[in-house]
Amino acid sequence: MTSAVANGATDAPRAKRARLEDEDSDEDSDEAAVSPATMSKVEDFLLPFQLSREKLREVSSKLRKDLIRGLGKHTHRRAPVKMLPTFVRDTPDGTETGDFLALDLGGTNFRVLHVRVEENLQKVLKMDSQECAIPQEMMQGPGEELFDHIAACVAEFLESIELKDKVLPLGFTFSFPCEQKDIDMSILIRWTKGFACSGVEGQNVVQLLREAIKRRGDYDIGSVAMVNDTVGTMMNCGYQDQSCEIGMIIGTGTNACYMEEMRNVKRVEGDEGRMCINTEWGGFGDDGSLRDVQTEFDVEVDRTSINPGVHTFEKMISGMYLGEVARLVLIEMAKKNLLFGGETSEALLTPDSFETRFISEIEEEDTGLEHAQQILTEDLGLPAGPEDCEIVRLVCDTLSTRSARLCGAALVTIANRIRNNRGLTHLTTTVGVDGTVYTKHPHYSDRLEETVKALAPKCNIKFMVTDDGSGKGAAMVTAVAQRLAIHSKLLEDSDGDEEDEDE
Ligand code: GLC
Repeated sequence: MTSAVANGATDAPRAKRARLEDEDSDEDSDEAAVSPATMSKVEDFLLPFQLSREKLREVSSKLRKDLIRGLGKHTHRRAPVKMLPTFVRDTPDGTETGDFLALDLGGTNFRVLHVRVEENLQKVLKMDSQECAIPQEMMQGPGEELFDHIAACVAEFLESIELKDKVLPLGFTFSFPCEQKDIDMSILIRWTKGFACSGVEGQNVVQLLREAIKRRGDYDIGSVAMVNDTVGTMMNCGYQDQSCEIGMIIGTGTNACYMEEMRNVKRVEGDEGRMCINTEWGGFGDDGSLRDVQTEFDVEVDRTSINPGVHTFEKMISGMYLGEVARLVLIEMAKKNLLFGGETSEALLTPDSFETRFISEIEEEDTGLEHAQQILTEDLGLPAGPEDCEIVRLVCDTLSTRSARLCGAALVTIANRIRNNRGLTHLTTTVGVDGTVYTKHPHYSDRLEETVKALAPKCNIKFMVTDDGSGKGAAMVTAVAQRLAIHSKLLEDSDGDEEDEDE
């Protein structure tokens, strides 16, 4: 691989780490072990990953146009950012209550939970839960097997908590792009994040689940609400903070949802009120619009993934890919004699051997360099000295900073859209956040917030990390749907009464 592709971001400052223009530059003083000559070469090498404020503004404005394309009645079909209606028409008002089952599928594990929404406590309580691993072969095998496995896991759980005879309403967090026809009808558009089960794309996921449960015949479920993890996160956070109208995930994948005005949701009938839109911003750039931001390493990660050309933005940001981008960078730097005395190792040359969690560990404030030493020598069998550790730390810093900035720029686009929708000069809002990249990395949240502040001075955004949005949030979506259904039933009944009186 040759050195980095020109990415149009060369107006970025040549700093030790990717800084926004007006940041102080006197941190990172521990880079002393690296000679100025080497450091200058390393900085040059990493330059394509640095995104200036101007570049981030461009990214944000491209996304703004894509949000509009995704919402349009006709333009949505070919839009890279899908802007999927979720049929979630309201955030919690704090009066929700009840017992629910929640299912969560979106990563390598499947979870089933028994959740209680307690109005008096204003809390969503996780009563019990169980996790079932999804073996790698199953992630890419026949869909029927996947759903049978899920149904079996639920059966085992219900058995263990002695609820097999109870028919509970169910919230299903299914964190893949789905075209929802209603809250309980959700057609998988395509798999992402390493899943590729046959016979599921284009099918109604609720039906596949119900069929699998029917095949067993030993328990039943009540009404179902289909939920994306971003939506669960927003709704879970919304029970405590009713100004939460955005949900964001930066974990294995990345995505966000927000409350959009119904009048702008051209694909769903009706102009009144709002609906939560699952943006599926991971697909941003799938039409080539981010080519000037992608480096050759991003292109390579995409090319060797199981879904080339799909979820371009996600592949520059999220946990499933960050480590792999780093690995390719390290190999190329070694080849250029910038690391490990020009050596690589079998482990480093093995795909996915540089785990994303290594990035968080290496960037730890006090212990980072020690971690680097251990990971490079013990896990990856590399001849790494103190200088290598510092350079690798800079690589990690550069990649995680780019990820945080890209997410920040995207979040700004959404916040500004809400602000404009409501004709506000200033927006104060809360974002519910979840995902290991955001929660486990020592500096990620600060960098993201810093980007948002720099790019969106008219928005005052509060971040709220939710505790298990995918589990508890799914129950919350179901609870709100029930509240709305009861409300509209009451309205219908009272309409009927009025007609009676008229007669
Ligand atoms: C992927 C999925 C999306 C999900 C995100 C975070 O981008 O397509 O639905 O919300 O990952 O898990």
